[in-house]
Amino acid sequence: MSKIQVFQRNQDTIFWGDAITVLEKDIPDASVSLIFADPPYNLGKKFSKFVDRWPSEAAYVEWCKQWLDLCIRKLTDAGSLYLMASTQCMPYLDIFLRGRLTVLSRIAWYYDSSGVQAKKYYGSIYEPILFCVKDPENYVFNSDAITVEARTGAQRKLIDYRKPKPALYNSQKVPGNVWYFPRVRYRMAEYENHPSQKPEALLERIVKASSNPGDIVLDPFSGTFTTSAVAQRLGRTSIGIEIQEEYVKVGLRRLGITEEFNGARLRPPQKTCVRKNGVKQSKMPARCQGELFSQ
Ligand SMILES: C[S@@+](CC[C@H](N)C(=O)[O-])C[C@H]1O[C@@H](n2cnc3c(N)ncnc32)[C@H](O)[C@@H]1O
Repeated sequence: MSKIQVFQRNQDTIFWGDAITVLEKDIPDASVSLIFADPPYNLGKKFSKFVDRWPSEAAYVEWCKQWLDLCIRKLTDAGSLYLMASTQCMPYLDIFLRGRLTVLSRIAWYYDSSGVQAKKYYGSIYEPILFCVKDPENYVFNSDAITVEARTGAQRKLIDYRKPKPALYNSQKVPGNVWYFPRVRYRMAEYENHPSQKPEALLERIVKASSNPGDIVLDPFSGTFTTSAVAQRLGRTSIGIEIQEEYVKVGLRRLGITEEFNGARLRPPQKTCVRKNGVKQSKMPARCQGELFSQ
């Protein structure tokens, strides 16, 4: 797909088209403060009309290198890139990026899964995220905006005697590199119909830490436009790129850019699931039955 359509309202822009083409043609170099890239993982998932499978792992990695190089070009001097990838492919991309950016953190986002992941090996319940910056001496990191409760010492009101003047342990701290956020479930308000929607809470931490109000935040593989929605809520300028019409329509609605598309009203997912004390349980799609009752 080489045709590109642009939708814009206030500080939010959606490009409907191929990420590489849009990055090349429509995004000025050195203009973006934060890029969050969550590409297809080459695992054979179906994203609307697109099946996420390259002819070989080498072909997939080559494709990733193309758009990663473009992303780096688009970053400001103090810019940051967060990259998600499958556990299998991340090592290739990590080595590639090490030569071009500074990798400051290798994050593991883990989550619960009610389903059986694997029976003959250890199923995957985490996804790796790389946090990279262009200049390790000059980058945005708003640590105060993302602190979490410090467990252990502070909770037990212990005194830290290692300090010059003994004092209570800090009750807040910057999170480490192992992050727990539940995956987006059918019953959650933010749920959209997409096979790998990322939770707003995950993006909130990233956007708050690595950008300031007004900064440009770009997501080249927007899916349900989680990054743009969070950026909008936090007063950033958002740019989202997505190739599938179905998901562009999600973005147009989620960001409030338009209420109609090609004459049809854009509607949130019509959920048929009901809670345990409701009726019509038989109408529940099979894939959400476990999720509703097992948490
Ligand atoms: C892993 S999903 C992103 C999910 C997203 N982070 C969210 O929270 O919903 C990857 C997305 O990339 C889109 N995509 C695949 N190839 C693309 C391309 N060449 N250019 C732009 N988007 C593409 C897919 O349609 C899919 O929605």
